[in-house]
Order: sequence, then C-alpha cells, then structure tokens
Amino acid sequence: MQNTHEIAPGLHWVGGNERRLQRFENLFPLRFGVAYNSYLIVDEKTCLLDTVDSSISQLFIDNVEFVLGGRDLDYLVVNHMEPDHCGNIETIIRRYPNVKFIGNAKTFQFFEQFYRFDASKNYKIVKDLEELDLGSRKLRFYTAPMVHWPEVMMTLDFTNHILFSSDAYGTFGAHNGTYFADEMEYRRDYLDEARRYYSNIVGKFGIPVQSIMKKLSNEVIDMICPLHGPMYRNEELALILDKYEKWSKYIPETKSALIIYATMYNNTESVADKLATRLGQLGVRDMRVYDVSEFDPSYLVSEAWKYSHIVIATPTYNSNVFYKIYNLLHELTSLNLQSRKFSFIVNSSWGGQTLEQLQALVEKMKNIEIIGEPVLIKSTLKDENIEAIDNLAKAISESIHKS
Ligand SMILES: Cc1cc2nc3c(=O)[nH]c(=O)nc-3n(C[C@H](O)[C@H](O)[C@H](O)COP(=O)(O)O)c2cc1C
Ligand SMILES: [Fe+2]
Ligand SMILES: [Fe+2]
Repeated sequence: MQNTHEIAPGLHWVGGNERRLQRFENLFPLRFGVAYNSYLIVDEKTCLLDTVDSSISQLFIDNVEFVLGGRDLDYLVVNHMEPDHCGNIETIIRRYPNVKFIGNAKTFQFFEQFYRFDASKNYKIVKDLEELDLGSRKLRFYTAPMVHWPEVMMTLDFTNHILFSSDAYGTFGAHNGTYFADEMEYRRDYLDEARRYYSNIVGKFGIPVQSIMKKLSNEVIDMICPLHGPMYRNEELALILDKYEKWSKYIPETKSALIIYATMYNNTESVADKLATRLGQLGVRDMRVYDVSEFDPSYLVSEAWKYSHIVIATPTYNSNVFYKIYNLLHELTSLNLQSRKFSFIVNSSWGGQTLEQLQALVEKMKNIEIIGEPVLIKSTLKDENIEAIDNLAKAISESIHKS
C-alpha cells in the first residue's frame, strides 16, 4: 500500500520512514527513526531522484508505481551511491528497463563496486552543470564531491528553484505526517538532530560544503529537498542555510561552556559541577554538563559543534586519559572540529600522563586556544582546590563574555 505526498505541483515525495532501526549506519542511535526521501517528478518526462534503503523496498516500489499511474519511468537520477539511497536501483531498472540511469563517472564506478547487476545499457553519464529537459522544467546537475562521499551530486530544478541536496541538509527523525520544516515544531523537534546528523556525518567536510554552497550562491533556491528528514522553504530554509554556513565554517552557535566529564566514583563529577556553578555565578548562561559514559558520543560531538568553550574533566585511568574521553577527543579531531576553546580538569590518585595526553589530543585540532590553568585534583575535591577552580571559572567566563 502506497503512502505518497505531492510536495509541489508535479513533485511527489515517494520515500518512507524507518522507525525500527536502532542505529543509523549501525553506529548512531536513532530516537525518532529516520526517513529515506525519494522524489518523483511527473512532467512530459518522468524522473525519479534517488531511491531508498532496502528496508522499505516494498513501500517504495508501491509509491513509485502509484504516482506513475501506469506511465513509464524515463529517468532515475542517482545523486548519492550510499546504500541507504541506492538499495532499489536494481529493482527500478528491472521494472522500468527503458529508464535512463543518470549519474557521473564515479556514480557508475560505485554502482559496479556495490552491485553485480549489469545496468550499463541504462547509463547516462552527466558532467558538472549539465542540464536535462523534462518538459515544463529543467534540471541542472552539480557535482558535490566529498559532501560526504566522492560521487555526490546535487540536482537543481532551476525552473521551479528546487534543490535536491543529497545528504546535505538532512536530519535523523522520521516524518510525522507533514513534510515541510515549516509545518512542524522544527526548531524544537528536529534542529538538534539535524546538527547531530551534520556534525557526525558531514562535519569533517566543511570545505566541500562551503564550495558547493558557493557554487550555488548565484542560483535562486526556494526549496531544499534532502535525502533524510523534512524539506525546507521560507524561514526554515533561511535557518538551515544559516546553520550550514556556521557548521561548515566551524563557527560555534552558542557562546557558553560545554562541560564533559568522566568519572568512576563521582569525584571528578563533583569538580565539574562545582566549576559549572561558579561559571553560573559569574553570569555564564546556557551551559551543558555531560557524563561521557552516559551519552552516545554522537550527541557530544553535536554539542561540541554548537558550543564555543569545551571543558574536559577526566580521572586518570591506567596512567591515561579515561578512554571514553580519549575516544571523544580523537573523534572530534578526526571530524576536523576547529576554532574551539578548551580547558582541563584532571583527577589522579597516584600519577600518570593525563594532562600531557589531553593537551596533545587537543593540539591536533586547528585554531584551538587553551583557557585558564588546568585544575589538578588528587582523588577528591578539597578546600585547597577551590582557588584553582575559581581561577579557571574566571578565565572561562571572561573569555566567553569578551568573545
Ligand atoms: C581501573 C582504574 C585505573 C586507575 N588508574 C589510575 C592511574 O593510572 N593513575 C592514577 O593517578 N589514578 C588511577 N586511578 C584512580 C582514579 O584516578 C580515581 O578513580 C580518581 O582519582 C577519582 O575520581 P573519580 O571518583 O571521578 O573516579 C584508576 C582507577 C581505576 C578504577
Ligand atoms: Fe550518505
Ligand atoms: Fe543518507
């Protein structure tokens, strides 16, 4: 049974929701599922933009058949060859053997790497900025390498000013009956998940995101249709473009402190809380304090993308940084996080190289500043540590207030 929605005249959403999947890419926990978007244009020619994950194949095929209403499919544009979107290319080509399969040279290289099915007679290779006439509207293809895979393209319907943006501007979270960000409490219900999606999946590729945004900057874009989550127009379109500008340039959205601690016996936690209270007393607002063991790292990566100041508090563990903190900092480095201000709290009972290791991990990031003197605790917080905490709080709050 189909479930489709005409999001603009002649443009149909033919994707589906997946609410059973525990972890996207078998890695990122999903709280509200995920949507795989596919779009079908019905014009003088019919054109399907991307397919969906194999988990929702039956629904997808029903959707496409329903919207086509007995017509043949003329084109299948594959903007992205990741399996969550190309899981039904073979089925589509088998059902519509005359279809022209549109991609760039890398698209077909990946198709042949992932699948045994020979679709070479359907291939239509397009180059950057090549155009396709569908009748009342025309499409233009933009290669967008490394946003976040090498073969990625975006497709612009420049007659109607609609951008099919591939994974860019996508978010975790299934649809809830309405499809545009302006038809829901997007800022409350999806924005944090859009940031988590961006920072963890696309975050490393700020420069490629900047280049495609620049390449498209002369085009009028009234609507963005991503491969996951809601579609954007009006004010929510302006919002997500502004967020992408900040996220891809590693510009923090919130001038405040994100405090991430590890603890085994709560002593380091109490130091983190003490620092947070002091910062609050000094006028810092909108802080967040997280136990690294309680949250999937993807949430902490997302918060690190948002906050200007990051305080890391860690016990010493087998002479090292507590390994969940180590992993988080390693991941932030690998995702290219930059332009942040870090401060450190280290707890040790007999010794180790913890502070040196923290500094070495953070120094790998670009444009990093260390704020204040690290606070060094011996097992538990004592009166003699208060001055050091106060000094660190002052240094952080001054830095927040002047930035
Ligand atoms: C498995 C384990 C290994 C530890 N290794 C070290 C170490 O190498 N050096 C050290 O100074 N403290 C070590 N500690 C002690 C912790 O640093 C101690 O738990 C901490 O000072 C107290 O902070 P917490 O209550 O926040 O866990 C270790 C503790 C555990 C449980
Ligand atoms: Fe992808
Ligand atoms: Fe995707």
